Amino acid sequence: MMRMSSGLAGPVALAAAVCLLLPAAGLAQLQVGFYNTSCPNAEALVRQAVTAAFANNSGVAPGLIRLHFHDCFVRGCDASVLLTVNPAGGNTERDAPPNNPSLRGFEVIDAAKAAVERSCPRTVSCADIVAFAARDSVNLTGNTFYQVPSGRRDGRVSNATEAFILPGPNSTAQNLTDGFARKGLSAEDMVVLSGSHTIGRSHCASFLFRNRQRLAAGTISPAYQALLEALCPPTTGQFTPNTSEIDLSTPTVMDNNYYKLLPLNLGLHFSDDQLIRNATLAPFASAFAANETLWKEKFAAAMIKMGNIEVKTGTQGEIRLNCSVVNPGSSAAGIEMMMAFPAGTSDATADEVATS
Ligand code: HEM
Ligand SMILES: *[C@@H]1O[C@H](CO)[C@@H](O)[C@H](O)[C@H]1NC(C)=O
Ligand SMILES: *[C@@H]1O[C@H](CO)[C@@H](O)[C@H](O)[C@H]1NC(C)=O
Ligand SMILES: *[C@@H]1O[C@H](CO)[C@@H](O)[C@H](O)[C@H]1NC(C)=O
Ligand SMILES: *[C@@H]1O[C@H](CO)[C@@H](O)[C@H](O)[C@H]1NC(C)=O
Ligand SMILES: *[C@@H]1O[C@H](CO)[C@@H](O)[C@H](O)[C@H]1NC(C)=O
Ligand SMILES: *[C@@H]1O[C@H](CO)[C@@H](O)[C@H](O)[C@H]1NC(C)=O
Ligand SMILES: *[C@@H]1O[C@H](CO)[C@@H](O)[C@H](O)[C@H]1NC(C)=O
Ligand SMILES: *[C@@H]1O[C@H](CO)[C@@H](O)[C@H](O)[C@H]1NC(C)=O
Ligand SMILES: *[C@@H]1O[C@H](CO)[C@@H](O)[C@H](O)[C@H]1NC(C)=O
Ligand SMILES: *[C@@H]1O[C@H](CO)[C@@H](O)[C@H](O)[C@H]1NC(C)=O
Repeated sequence: MMRMSSGLAGPVALAAAVCLLLPAAGLAQLQVGFYNTSCPNAEALVRQAVTAAFANNSGVAPGLIRLHFHDCFVRGCDASVLLTVNPAGGNTERDAPPNNPSLRGFEVIDAAKAAVERSCPRTVSCADIVAFAARDSVNLTGNTFYQVPSGRRDGRVSNATEAFILPGPNSTAQNLTDGFARKGLSAEDMVVLSGSHTIGRSHCASFLFRNRQRLAAGTISPAYQALLEALCPPTTGQFTPNTSEIDLSTPTVMDNNYYKLLPLNLGLHFSDDQLIRNATLAPFASAFAANETLWKEKFAAAMIKMGNIEVKTGTQGEIRLNCSVVNPGSSAAGIEMMMAFPAGTSDATADEVATS
């Protein structure tokens, strides 16, 4: 703890100082309790929706954690991953193979949004709801509680091609580290966040064929691969429905068993296995296998960091009314109108008035 705070004091103080020097408009930072006055129940309502859905199907928790990751890595944490229609035409992120059909939890976000809209209309962004729901899912599955800085605004674009920036299960250590570095996350953050794979499931196409090569190379347990071969049909494609739990030992609990399984050749994806094959990454994985508290502390910090990727704040983007579609009038023509009449758009929220 001491080491952590002294290590962070410099950069945090510097960031705070730099922030004071910046002009306020459009460059607002996320803040814990952003909805304190504009929608004091927002976080409780999201938690209720997540808790209810989790009681019915515990798979929504891993689904919602991954949803936040897949949102943040593509166009920043702006709920672009939720859009079913791209106003500019073409498929959306949600349609793309890295998300379709595996991504889940959309209906939980819709239920949370409906509750929040009833309580405080046009105030809480879908992107913040996704971030709160991921935090609640982490908490419900046995990991820590952390405060989520909020004030994200929702984007108006979703482009299927851009989803291929998401790291895939065939990624090498170098691919993984590079992909996270491009989003401002360190190699250690990458290893820490991969620990999310302590819960949830994976489709056969994400591991089966690649693991046959690992079997030949001796980097997967033969008994484990035999089990996976029995779960999956012999050939797979994007829509093959069969899945495996990712953490063979405790698939619904956010513990550090994921890291303990890796040296036993029981990592499910090639990308998981890479964390112990690479000399730069392996010490992180073994530290988290040895100390669960350490991993949980770092996990909370890394989730907050991930939640800050390329966020839209202030007057950027919009507060979407329906998380699946951009607001009416926020098409290209609508954006031109807003630039011509910036003060009078339906996009201005009580929240902006309250916090500015
Ligand atoms: C390091 C690079 C990563 C790679 C290559 C990767 C890859 C994958 C793959 C292939 C799946 C299975 C998808 C399927 O076929 O159903 C998966 C699932 C999952 N991933 Fe990752 N992932 C990475 C990082 C992350 C991060 C940063 C998070 C969250 C912070 C995360 C959270 C999850 C969760 C919770 C699941 C289970 C989803 C469910 O049960 O619905 N992953 N990941
Ligand atoms: C909201 O309230 C909490 C608890 O009192 C406080 O920690 C936080 O700083 C407040 N945030 C804002 C933006 O007012
Ligand atoms: C409960 O979960 C199942 C999937 O396990 C889903 O089909 C169903 O819609 C859920 N029901 C509610 C009320 O959320
Ligand atoms: C979940 O969050 C609550 C606070 O809201 C906290 O008391 C509890 O300890 C957290 N659960 C875990 C497993 O950390
Ligand atoms: C989607 O993004 C790709 C790659 O950045 C770009 O080539 C393509 O034109 C975009 N499509 C649309 C409809 O904007
Ligand atoms: C290990 O990963 C690092 C990136 O974290 C990369 O620079 C290095 O080349 C990798 N080492 C090997 C042997 O692949
Ligand atoms: C992964 O790295 C290899 C070799 O460095 C490179 O050829 C490949 O394009 C990378 N793949 C991705 C998805 O970045
Ligand atoms: C992973 O690589 C294998 C070949 O080794 C290929 O068949 C499979 O489609 C790839 N999977 C993904 C998700 O890229
Ligand atoms: C895979 O899923 C299909 C469809 O649900 C099912 O019929 C089949 O038994 C499952 N298992 C295997 C090994 O194919
Ligand atoms: C585990 O990590 C925690 C948090 O950093 C630390 O306080 C504790 O001393 C570590 N335990 C051991 C046995 O190293
Ligand atoms: C949100 O938009 C989708 C797609 O148009 C629609 O199916 C759904 O009913 C809408 N939800 C609400 C609550 O209006």
